[in-house]
Amino acid sequence: MHFACRANVLLALSAFAVATNGPGGAEHSPTRSRITEAAAADHIDPTVLPFISTAFASIEAIQSPVVAANNTINASATRVDTHVHLVPDWYRALVPVTGGNPTPEWDVQSHLQFMADNSIRHSFASVSSPGSGAYPGDETKSVALARVLNEWSAALVKTYPDRFSFFAVVPLPYVQAAITEVDYALSCLGAAGVIRLTNHEGFCLGNPTFTPFFDFLNSRNSSREVIFVHPNEPHVHQNHTLTSANPTLYPPGAIEFYFETARTFMDLTVSQTLANFTKLRYAVAHVGGSFPSVIDRFMRNYPALAAPSTELYKSRAGPTYNHQVQGLLAYGVPASQLIFGSDWPYGPPLSYLDSLAAIVDAPFLSPEDKEGVFGGNAGVLFGA
Ligand SMILES: *[C@@H]1O[C@H](CO)[C@@H](O)[C@H](O)[C@H]1NC(C)=O
Ligand SMILES: *[C@@H]1O[C@H](CO)[C@@H](O)[C@H](O)[C@H]1NC(C)=O
Ligand SMILES: *[C@@H]1O[C@H](CO)[C@@H](O)[C@H](O)[C@H]1NC(C)=O
Ligand SMILES: *[C@@H]1O[C@H](CO)[C@@H](O)[C@H](O)[C@H]1NC(C)=O
Ligand SMILES: *[C@@H]1O[C@H](CO)[C@@H](O)[C@H](O)[C@H]1NC(C)=O
Repeated sequence: MHFACRANVLLALSAFAVATNGPGGAEHSPTRSRITEAAAADHIDPTVLPFISTAFASIEAIQSPVVAANNTINASATRVDTHVHLVPDWYRALVPVTGGNPTPEWDVQSHLQFMADNSIRHSFASVSSPGSGAYPGDETKSVALARVLNEWSAALVKTYPDRFSFFAVVPLPYVQAAITEVDYALSCLGAAGVIRLTNHEGFCLGNPTFTPFFDFLNSRNSSREVIFVHPNEPHVHQNHTLTSANPTLYPPGAIEFYFETARTFMDLTVSQTLANFTKLRYAVAHVGGSFPSVIDRFMRNYPALAAPSTELYKSRAGPTYNHQVQGLLAYGVPASQLIFGSDWPYGPPLSYLDSLAAIVDAPFLSPEDKEGVFGGNAGVLFGA
């Protein structure tokens, strides 16, 4: 479909003979060759990652027919989970702490079991923060990590197409590399959208250096480009050094994530990124964080700008968010804009059942609203 994609595929096919020239048989499997050649076509060298052999082996493992056959299904499951994370072992080793808490373990069988237990038919999955930001200041490794995470996610989706879709990681703040990556992920790997963090190496999403990225996505003209905005730990640039900016004693995931979401959506609003690039759709983690409650106040500082439309989609997660969902409805966000997200496996253990039950039992949502939250609204968002 995309010229860039066809070129990559052709290169990948013709690469087998070349790639087997190196030392070691298993080192040069078809999977490894295809990925390496497609990356080379985009000037990416995955071998800069010290764990690349492990990563390639895990991509091969997840495509094995034995794994594919072991697909725990709840036949009556109908729900769509739009906020759920993938954690390859090698990524967890690289990022042992997320938002101040230990990065959780993940494996596909546990994920499928979680889906079956909670009546989830399909998961739109992503790699959580920091994603490719695990190598701050190192463009070469950030770009390689984004590519390998996307190849790994695409392999999972290929093995279980009915169960998973994925949001692509993009190696921002390196904007040209991020454009290359998102084009490859959407055109060649079948990504359902892109995950962006509330800050990439300390830069909020309205930063002018990111405008070419939004412009590129918008100019694909699909009207369906979904950007899942997920919190990251706050960072600031001090004296040309990137520094963690958590002003409290608490893990940033506990409270800073909410303010991060507000900060970045304020930035997207004031920079007019939301207003200018009208073909993009947003899914916002954690029911919009603290953004909805600060809109009225900060918009007073910008009388010439329109407040952001309630067209923004929100996802929800966590045990007590039902109160927050109720609050959001009071801000004029229609129930048709709410989509379910569990945040598995990053949420506190045992929170998922309570969280689901709170929405299943919520008196402020009609049965039709709930059907939308648990599936129909995500179908509209993703054009299903
Ligand atoms: C199949 O899945 C179950 C859990 O659902 C797990 O215990 C078992 O090890 C898996 N088998 C294989 C071959 O992956
Ligand atoms: C399967 O989903 C249904 C609802 O669709 C639920 O009631 C049931 O508990 C689930 N079964 C299992 C084994 O989790
Ligand atoms: C999208 O539409 C604009 C304006 O009509 C056009 O200039 C651009 O080439 C289109 N992009 C693609 C990828 O088709
Ligand atoms: C900024 O960093 C340089 C070295 O990187 C150091 O010499 C200087 O003292 C720093 N300035 C402040 C205000 O911290
Ligand atoms: C959006 O458009 C306005 C007016 O045309 C312009 O001033 C602003 O810089 C644009 N912002 C972005 C992020 O493109």
